[in-house]
Amino acid sequence: MYFTNIAIAIMKQKIQDILTEIVEQFKKNNLIPQDAAIRVMIENTKDKKNGDYATNLAMLLAKPMKKKPQEIASLIVDSIPVTDEITKVEIAGPGFINFFVSKNYLASQVEAILNDEHLGVKTAAKPETVVIDYSSPNVAKEMAVHHIRSTVIGDAVVRILEFLGHKVIRANHIGDWGTQFGMLIAYLEKKENENASNLELSDLEAFYREAKKCYESDEEFAVRARGYVVKLQSGDEYCLKMWKKLVNITMVQNQEIYDRLNISLTEKDIMGESLYNPMLKPLVEDLVSKNLAVRDDGAMVVYLKNFADKDGNPRGVIVQKKDGGFLYTTTDIACTKYRCETLGANRIICFADSRQHEHLMMSWEIARLAGYVPEGVVLEHGAFGMMLGKDGKPFKTRDGGTVKLKDLLNEAETRAAELIAQRNNDLPEDLREQVIKTVAMGAVKYADLSKNRTTDYVFDWDNMLTFEGNTAPYLQYAYSRIQSIFKKAGETEPGRIVISTPEEEALAQQFVKFNEAVNNAAAKIAPHLICTYIYELAGLFMRFYEACPINKDDVPADIKASRLSLCKAASSILKTGLGMLGINVLDRM
Ligand code: ARG
Repeated sequence: MYFTNIAIAIMKQKIQDILTEIVEQFKKNNLIPQDAAIRVMIENTKDKKNGDYATNLAMLLAKPMKKKPQEIASLIVDSIPVTDEITKVEIAGPGFINFFVSKNYLASQVEAILNDEHLGVKTAAKPETVVIDYSSPNVAKEMAVHHIRSTVIGDAVVRILEFLGHKVIRANHIGDWGTQFGMLIAYLEKKENENASNLELSDLEAFYREAKKCYESDEEFAVRARGYVVKLQSGDEYCLKMWKKLVNITMVQNQEIYDRLNISLTEKDIMGESLYNPMLKPLVEDLVSKNLAVRDDGAMVVYLKNFADKDGNPRGVIVQKKDGGFLYTTTDIACTKYRCETLGANRIICFADSRQHEHLMMSWEIARLAGYVPEGVVLEHGAFGMMLGKDGKPFKTRDGGTVKLKDLLNEAETRAAELIAQRNNDLPEDLREQVIKTVAMGAVKYADLSKNRTTDYVFDWDNMLTFEGNTAPYLQYAYSRIQSIFKKAGETEPGRIVISTPEEEALAQQFVKFNEAVNNAAAKIAPHLICTYIYELAGLFMRFYEACPINKDDVPADIKASRLSLCKAASSILKTGLGMLGINVLDRM
């Protein structure tokens, strides 16, 4: 860009390093016992009167050093080397130490961020292979509204980890195997014989319901269906072909939803339950040979000590039924093994709703006991709460049915069209369509992503489709507003940054924190941390824009250029941050 290359020093890290060194010195001089465990912590200050960063280190050292915190604080302050970066170090209150960072240094850091393709975000020192299991709908069933959570949150985490340089393997663990397929094949056959239209087949909810009806009321149909289960299991060509058709009909529809929602999943990412089917028999044999699985009343059971009841009886988990059939758990053990051994995963994150927690924990415990999970591999359940209606009850249609995702997205677009119509703008028709779609999908995704993942969340149209508050439309609008500033700026290019007002300073400090927000979101599997960050950024930008004129005639050229650089940083971080959430921005809206 426009600046010579300046390294981005993470200021917080620098201060941390200096203080850690001082603690070491204290130890060397026997001021603190050698074995004392001291955790140096640096905080971002809330009130800028107290500087930019603060530490409570002096208080922590009071006990081991047997001195007053204020005394220790002044010892520490005396040991801090003078640099251009830190203009002032102050002792406050009972012994806090406050650090003031120089405005010039801050400006240079923002310039460095603008020069950096990762906008100052530190990418992974050791990239990992991360398998992310998400979306995972079931075949011959409509994707329902709760699948949106897994899909949207999972895809954001995929993008965040990829941004940080990790190798991410998307695993769409679709429910594409099981005894229900006999019935579904028999029903598909019936429909084909009746020359059913594509439209009839595509109503998956009705398809499943009708198949079940036939199975329950028509004995001949039921016999045929049971026969097909056996045939399918043994690899019968006809049954496999029919099964494949069912998977395709479902996944073509789901892909449409992925594309509409800007979800990065494709057909290539499908790794459904059927993939593991051939591995289940040898797996159970292996569990038996390792004395983990034992026969109990005809079934194969693994007893888990770590899941004992309150009387100490280990919990039994069935891995093979009496009739020889395998279970959801067996598949998850096999898939964990496959992901570790074949895909080489260092980390596996499974996005499934919190009710599946115990199931996953037990499957993983068995996989670990069997030695399928190498030391150091992290298995995480990206659990999430339920989606509730405004009444606090599970989100349902007016008549109590499950809301189909497709209908929900259609409604989002209708509502977004109303929202956009309320603003009197002169968008050309094709652009208007694009704005509506982008705002609608952004709003739905952001409403989900901005909440803490683990709690239930209330789905409320009015709170998500508005230009006010922590919503996608607000952020998208902030972005497009910056683009119009650039347009108005004409010939003037962004240039060297000079920070002179408190609003510029606050904004610049927020830019420097992008690294922390992204890395925290990745470590905690918490995309909402990025939402909070960019929402704050947008707010600080609006305040800056009100206080600091850019395109007015009397603004000196160098100040205009500097402020345009701040706009540039805000625009890039907004776009990149929203991009990590899978939300698009528009130059005009
Ligand atoms: N298909 C499952 C469902 O709809 C989710 C699968 C989650 N992943 C897994 N490895 N079990 O509930």
